[in-house]
Amino acid sequence: MNINYVDICCGLAWGDEAKGKIIAELSKSKNYDYVCRWAGGNNAGHTIYVNKQKYKTHLIPSGIFYNIKSIVGPDCVINVKSFFQELDYLKNNGFNTELIKVSPKAHVVLDKHIQYDKDKLLKTQGTTAKGIAPSYSEKYARTGVLASTIPELKPYLWDEKLEGNILCEGAQGFWLDINYGNYPFVTSSTTLPYAACSLGFPPQKIRKIYGAVKIYDTRSGIDPDFPEELLEDPELLKVVNTGQEYGTTTGRKRKANWLNLNKLINAINISGTTNLIISKIDVLESVNIYKLYYNSQLITFENINNIKDFVYNTLLNQCKPFLKTIVFSNNPYSI
Ligand code: IMP
Ligand code: MG
Repeated sequence: MNINYVDICCGLAWGDEAKGKIIAELSKSKNYDYVCRWAGGNNAGHTIYVNKQKYKTHLIPSGIFYNIKSIVGPDCVINVKSFFQELDYLKNNGFNTELIKVSPKAHVVLDKHIQYDKDKLLKTQGTTAKGIAPSYSEKYARTGVLASTIPELKPYLWDEKLEGNILCEGAQGFWLDINYGNYPFVTSSTTLPYAACSLGFPPQKIRKIYGAVKIYDTRSGIDPDFPEELLEDPELLKVVNTGQEYGTTTGRKRKANWLNLNKLINAINISGTTNLIISKIDVLESVNIYKLYYNSQLITFENINNIKDFVYNTLLNQCKPFLKTIVFSNNPYSI
């Protein structure tokens, strides 16, 4: 069997855009033969609800919750210890961990990488301190350690074949991409769909690109575009608390800001998003404040329908012809 089609789900902001929820919905359809991560490591954090039960993963793709082969791709970095911890966690919860495979070409995160990250980058960049940047540094210096050389990983090595219908699971988001983000306040991997081809399929196989974003922006970690003062804004603090904006991986409080619609337009157009999902609508509704930035103006709306109409019409107008659908979604688990 050959590759039939590839769907991709990516974040269009700074991570934490409820990609996990979308991937869960897509995986549930059972049309996928593989769910694959193409970038990053255990700096990511995915929260998935299966039968109302909450699960958290960091590296292993969410297809595992739906009995689908789950691949950690060649452009990912793998912390071997935390990989096995995650594997045990999944096994103990009754999931079939034999479906999990790691590319022999994935790079390994070593203790020295984590130490450097903790000692240096955590303070200057607010990283997740998981050794991501130092590990990718060694990959690109061509001095890194490959997953294929680690004896414990042998039973989990992927044969590098894909067939049937593929779902690619993004980690982080558009503005954390090493090429597009506010460098150096980015992560060290390529978070956009263009990079999913590193898994081993030609771009022509891509069918749909699901782009995930929230109706407001959030940022965890240091970024001059998200000054600390945002944490003192009483309205935005209400958004943080109502939306439970705390990091899955770090537990840190995220900084919130009103949606920057121009940035979203850019992210949609450059990622090639065909299906947009804007989530956490209910958070704004329950806070009862409706604002966004557009063309450097902060615009205030009367109610949820007005802001939704404005977003819908502006995006459809400015993101044609690729953008096909826009769905507004609630986050029933956040409150
Ligand atoms: P690193 O990926 O740990 O090197 O962190 C670099 C930047 O990306 C920091 O600002 C982190 O807060 C941010 N970051 C990395 N992974 C995630 C994620 O999964 N969600 C949100 N922010 C992330
Ligand atoms: Mg996350």
